[in-house]
Amino acid sequence: MHQFLCLLLLCGVVHGLNNGLARTPPMGFLSWERFRCNLDCKTDPENCVSEHLYKSIADVIVAEGYRDLGYEYVNIDDCWPAEDRDSEGRLQPDPDRFPSGMKNLSQYMHSKGLKLGIYEDFGKKTCAGYPGSEFFLRTDANTFADWEIDLLKFDGCNSDPKDMDVGYSTMSKFLNLTTRPMLFSCEWPGYLRAVGIKPNYQAIRENCNIWRNYNDIQDSWDSVLSIINFYGQNKGNFAAVAGPGGFNDPDELIVGDFGLSYYQQKAQFGMWAMLASPLFISADLRNIKPEFKAILQNKRVIAINQDPLGAQATRLYEAGPIQVWLKPLAVNGTYAVAILNTDNQGMPTKVTLTPAQIGVPNPNGINITETFDNVHVGAFKPGQNFTIPINPTGIFLASVVPLS
Ligand code: GLA
Repeated sequence: MHQFLCLLLLCGVVHGLNNGLARTPPMGFLSWERFRCNLDCKTDPENCVSEHLYKSIADVIVAEGYRDLGYEYVNIDDCWPAEDRDSEGRLQPDPDRFPSGMKNLSQYMHSKGLKLGIYEDFGKKTCAGYPGSEFFLRTDANTFADWEIDLLKFDGCNSDPKDMDVGYSTMSKFLNLTTRPMLFSCEWPGYLRAVGIKPNYQAIRENCNIWRNYNDIQDSWDSVLSIINFYGQNKGNFAAVAGPGGFNDPDELIVGDFGLSYYQQKAQFGMWAMLASPLFISADLRNIKPEFKAILQNKRVIAINQDPLGAQATRLYEAGPIQVWLKPLAVNGTYAVAILNTDNQGMPTKVTLTPAQIGVPNPNGINITETFDNVHVGAFKPGQNFTIPINPTGIFLASVVPLS
């Protein structure tokens, strides 16, 4: 019994940050990849980093059904602060772009059943050169609590990665001391890896709810694939540490942007679901094509991401351009499986596999149901072949249920 409980709770592996947040991967919007550090409110008022941007995105999140599917965090990224702290050393938002102040903005979100996230940096300055939290950790944690902030993304530019083990855990404690639950999003392991330091994922899990490991996503399939392959290599088995309360963060969703084809967008969304990744959309939800919105709003794919077990998929193997990924789900013996075709030749590849080859050799066989369109593929015995055509740079995502 103890062993069984241990399996359920992943004893000795996952002691998460004790703030009760991120029991499943957080969902919402994050402005960075799409809106960057656009300061041009004069000629581009709809898209500059300003309270108008976050409010108008929030309005759409509510009006178009995203919130009711779980997309609840509206996250500000870099470039929100004024150039200087106030006379008492507190951060203040840029007065022209956030004239109503941050507390007003968070209350706007709360009145709509949403949450507000903000961005800061552990170093002297943020990556874009705004005041960082160095020497102000406690002040900033208190300021964010005063503003009723719900999530802090904490970057690591302009700091020494050797200070991060102490620094990030100190910030985590200061956030906890405010008594306001604020989801803590850390870039800590990403910066450590970049300079060849092996991250201590136990410590990271104890101090952060989500954490970045790898490069920033850009608006291209190459970028998405490089992240998928980094997660596939899973160096140091960081996948094992994911679970309720703490998740690896492969960065934002670029579904709805410019760089991916329709099938590549499905591939990113499907893979992010498999990876138990935060689902933070970085797209202009005010202007999104219906077929891309439908991807982001696919309930069955979201359910894989939000599965209460919180397990991160691992790559079982690669065969040429074909990758097979498996994610255990909470209902005993069931799985989500993704078959990714990374080939870019112009016709679909017919992939033939057996249940044993996707890692589910249940003696009585399995039922396979494709997830995006909810199509029953069939029931198959462990050694029986099934054949799936998969588009170039596309995904086959399915649920696998054992037959008794
Ligand atoms: C870093 C982070 C990004 C984004 C930018 C902002 O590059 O990794 O996610 O926050 O800084 O400047």
